[in-house]
Amino acid sequence: MKHYLQFNDLTADEYAYLFERAALIKKKFKAYEKHHPLVDRTLAMIFEKASTRTRVSFEAGMYQLGGSVVHLTTGDSQLGRAEPIDDSAKVISRMVDLVMIRTYEQTKIERFAAHSRVPVINGLTNEFHPCQILADIFTFIEHRGSIQGKTVAWVGDGNNMANTWLQAAALLSFKVHVSTPRGYEIDEKLAVGAGGTSASSYQFFSNPLEACQGADLVTTDVWTSMGYEAENEERKKAFADWCVDAEMMAAARPDALFMHCLPAHRGEEVEADVIDGPQSVVWDEAENRMHVQKALMEYLLLGRQGA
Ligand code: CP
Ligand code: NVA
Repeated sequence: MKHYLQFNDLTADEYAYLFERAALIKKKFKAYEKHHPLVDRTLAMIFEKASTRTRVSFEAGMYQLGGSVVHLTTGDSQLGRAEPIDDSAKVISRMVDLVMIRTYEQTKIERFAAHSRVPVINGLTNEFHPCQILADIFTFIEHRGSIQGKTVAWVGDGNNMANTWLQAAALLSFKVHVSTPRGYEIDEKLAVGAGGTSASSYQFFSNPLEACQGADLVTTDVWTSMGYEAENEERKKAFADWCVDAEMMAAARPDALFMHCLPAHRGEEVEADVIDGPQSVVWDEAENRMHVQKALMEYLLLGRQGA
């Protein structure tokens, strides 16, 4: 049984399969062709934080695969009334085939997985957001081909998205240029984990404009992630120079793409003319969450499938 708790949980070879499979699943979806490998299977979705894309993409995706979903939040389940996570995992995983969790600490999802009888998928933790990077790389491949050897510029917070980009770069052989304000740097050890990052996959820049130079993809995220709202005002000051604007896009390659996992705050981490401009692929990126996660759910439950 495989869990998907961080990007490192799958190999480069498994990702190559998933990207191909997601392309096929997307093609079928666009042609209104039925694809029901998960009939009678149930996905439990547990949200301890808010969501639009993750909820819709997993829920719609599971129905499209022929399965069904159960949606739980902290507020409307015993999770919010301090039932131990181990007990919740033991119970929920006896009744469903797959669990997706969005929560706070990575240790919480790890603990759930340790007591689960079924595969567990990380739908975002404070530390990682692997499903989003899966969608982002799939989107890059759709627009530009292989990401191997390419350069991704990360401008902003050293957060769950940034950590996951670093893991992906080391695993799939591309580079990440990271620029964060002082005090908001990536925790490299956490980002790459036991596997270790190679010096060639990660470079830090104190100047965000320099990080964008020669990039094939420029990407950012909110200045204040969920769970850090108390720091909002302080972060607005610290991040003022880390807004992706036309000058940063001009420093990147002429064919560079712009991505943002969304939700976005125009005028904070990105200017409207960038996110709504011709280099932005944010809507494809959001849609692709569903296609890649369908491939992921199918893979975790059934393994590799033929055409
Ligand atoms: N990008 C993303 O995970 O969006 P939601 O918070 O809306 O799920
Ligand atoms: N880094 C953001 C991503 C939201 C999808 C957060 O954790 O809130």
